[in-house]
Amino acid sequence: MALTGKNTELAASLLKDGKLVAIPTETVYGLAALATNEKAVLHIFEVKQRPFFDPLILHFHSLDAALAHSLPADERLIKLASHFWPGPLTILLPKKDSIPGIVTSGLAQMAARVPDHPLTLELLKILDQPLAAPSANPFGYISPTEPAHVEKQLGGKVDYILDGGACTVGLESTIVGVEEGKLCIFRLGGLTVEEIEKVAGRVELSLNQSGDPKAPGQLKSHYAPTKPLLLGDIAGLRAQHPKKKLAVICFGDEHQDYGDALVFNLSKKSDLREAAINLFRYLRQADESEAELVLCSLLPEFGLGKAINDRLRRAAAE
Ligand code: TXA
Ligand code: MG
Repeated sequence: MALTGKNTELAASLLKDGKLVAIPTETVYGLAALATNEKAVLHIFEVKQRPFFDPLILHFHSLDAALAHSLPADERLIKLASHFWPGPLTILLPKKDSIPGIVTSGLAQMAARVPDHPLTLELLKILDQPLAAPSANPFGYISPTEPAHVEKQLGGKVDYILDGGACTVGLESTIVGVEEGKLCIFRLGGLTVEEIEKVAGRVELSLNQSGDPKAPGQLKSHYAPTKPLLLGDIAGLRAQHPKKKLAVICFGDEHQDYGDALVFNLSKKSDLREAAINLFRYLRQADESEAELVLCSLLPEFGLGKAINDRLRRAAAE
């Protein structure tokens, strides 16, 4: 069992000692170390069993704090950050040498964000130093959106879980950078394409489906449960698997009959925000249930539905 509580002073002193602390954010829980402590950062990779080619996101308490570690950056990214921070947006900035190469997997750019959670903002202000933090789950598995998820999988390996309750967005941050002069989204997430375009104009999607080290969160198979997850028309899928114990993850249509299946409705009132909050919790519950197969239908492909579908496709990928 990891020590769990709301003590930001304790969390800060552990981090200063080179320990790992799970931190709450609005998106998902992070597994944090002081970004300038290379040994502690190395420990994050070990605990998560994460490949070293997959860089970590840096968390700051403010835009100014992030810019203090950045070389001159693209104005459009600064504009987005000024508009959406604190919030579920990560931007790729050219890093200074103050950020060790292990954090960025040797890349010249760092991924930076200001998370929107009062406890973690308080912690970052006490430290006045960036925290490197990937999502607090074993590499490739579903991200944690509650302290209990962290405890269950990494409890023996973190020194403290800062308990900030359940995450209020439930999907990782949207990653935005500049490629060949164009504003690009490298990972869909809790800030929608539509919201970004309203502020910054047209953005390209650069969502690689392979093993591109630029954003391994885009690895084809990721966010994956241990049980097979099948995507498609649920009635059709049920008919194909008449003998299996099933779990169904659905959206809206409350009155649909799913027989004996265990049903997880992401949002009975078809609210995409509510669906995002529930997604990872329900994927975990379905994975931990008695079901042999998890069936799931895709959501409408706009707003947060795009990011939710992205996670579902990766969760279903082999
Ligand atoms: O919402 C979030 O972003 C959460 C919370 C804890 O902040 N963090 C998170 O971290 O999702 P992680 O490690 O699970 O995903 C980070 C993604 C990876 O896909 C990684 O490849 C990409 O960010 N990334 C990190 N640094 C990068 C860099 N310098 N250049 C390009 N991509 C980067
Ligand atoms: Mg992750």
